[in-house]
Amino acid sequence: MKLLVTGGAGYIGSIVARLLIETGHEVVVFDNLERGHREAVPRQAQLILGDLRNPEDPRRALDGGGFGGVLHFAALALVGESVEHPGRYYRTNVAGTLNLLEAMVAGGVPRLVFSSTCAVYGQPDEVPIAETAPPRPQNAYGASKLAADHLIGDFCAAHQLAAVSLRYFNVAGAHGEAGEDHEPETHLIPNILKVALGASASVQIFGTDYPTDDGTAVRDYIHIDDLAAAHLLALEHARAGEHLILNLGNGNGFSVREVIEVARRVTGEPIPAREAPRRPGDPPRLVAASDRIRAALGWVAQKPELETMIADAWAFAQAHPHGYSRSDSAASA
Ligand SMILES: NC(=O)c1ccc[n+]([C@@H]2O[C@H](COP(=O)([O-])OP(=O)(O)OC[C@H]3O[C@@H](n4cnc5c(N)ncnc54)[C@H](O)[C@@H]3O)[C@@H](O)[C@H]2O)c1
Repeated sequence: MKLLVTGGAGYIGSIVARLLIETGHEVVVFDNLERGHREAVPRQAQLILGDLRNPEDPRRALDGGGFGGVLHFAALALVGESVEHPGRYYRTNVAGTLNLLEAMVAGGVPRLVFSSTCAVYGQPDEVPIAETAPPRPQNAYGASKLAADHLIGDFCAAHQLAAVSLRYFNVAGAHGEAGEDHEPETHLIPNILKVALGASASVQIFGTDYPTDDGTAVRDYIHIDDLAAAHLLALEHARAGEHLILNLGNGNGFSVREVIEVARRVTGEPIPAREAPRRPGDPPRLVAASDRIRAALGWVAQKPELETMIADAWAFAQAHPHGYSRSDSAASA
């Protein structure tokens, strides 16, 4: 199938694009390189430089191209930035998604797989978090993703679009030569590995008095390969007129201290840690219920161990100690 991958120069999009190519699909990447890297785009994929905020860009990309579907990863995804600059988040994540959906309808593209997030749930009443949990986002990032989910649902009903929203928890690991390189990096594992590489002095533990076994916050980490595999299944299972919403996590929680300990074992480095107060709005535990995705897609995690995720991320970090070449990024041009 011919597929458009928005955000295919970013961490997750570039790896899902690889898996799509490895399984015989034709991939066109659509990205403005604002937060991604030209070097991350798979060599076999065509790259269209375009911006979702300009309605004509996605329309031109999809017009008359015979696309069987879109995988929509392009977004802004920094919680702190979203609180300071909500307008940016609604413009890219909501208006950008609207422009894409209208371009899909105009171009007759039947299927969509969308990167949603557990940030739509905010502070959950129950953990593991099921899809029936009330969405109560605590920041503009989560709210913008929830708004995009609503848009998608309405387009499915009105235009017979087939869509699956996958609500990711914490994504980790690497796939061969492709891995995680955000600027700024806010994710725990790559930040721990920067300490292991000697690029930063210590890692901060935000909050040591949570009601968890070791007092640090617990999060659900999923290997990027398992996450990517779910996208292929979602493409196969999407049905016209239906919008399926599925949580996508490992179903296992790991505390911040556990993650640091495993990283020490995997890297053989001491990785000094500094304790700091809790960050406002950080819940004690965020773990996905994965019953619905197992039933709907037959998806099962193949790499559930934290060791594997960290070992793969470590191999990427060692091969790319400064990330992808900064000169390839529009952000630094
Ligand atoms: N990384 C995680 O753990 C995680 C967790 C939950 C949800 N998600 C979601 O997954 C998706 C991908 O995350 P990621 O970590 O790969 O992010 P990323 O920042 O690495 O990739 C996003 C890509 O989108 C592109 N982009 C941004 N604005 C654009 C625009 N207006 N037009 C065209 N391209 C644009 C960027 O240049 C970048 O290449 C995002 O939608 C994010 O919200 C990620």
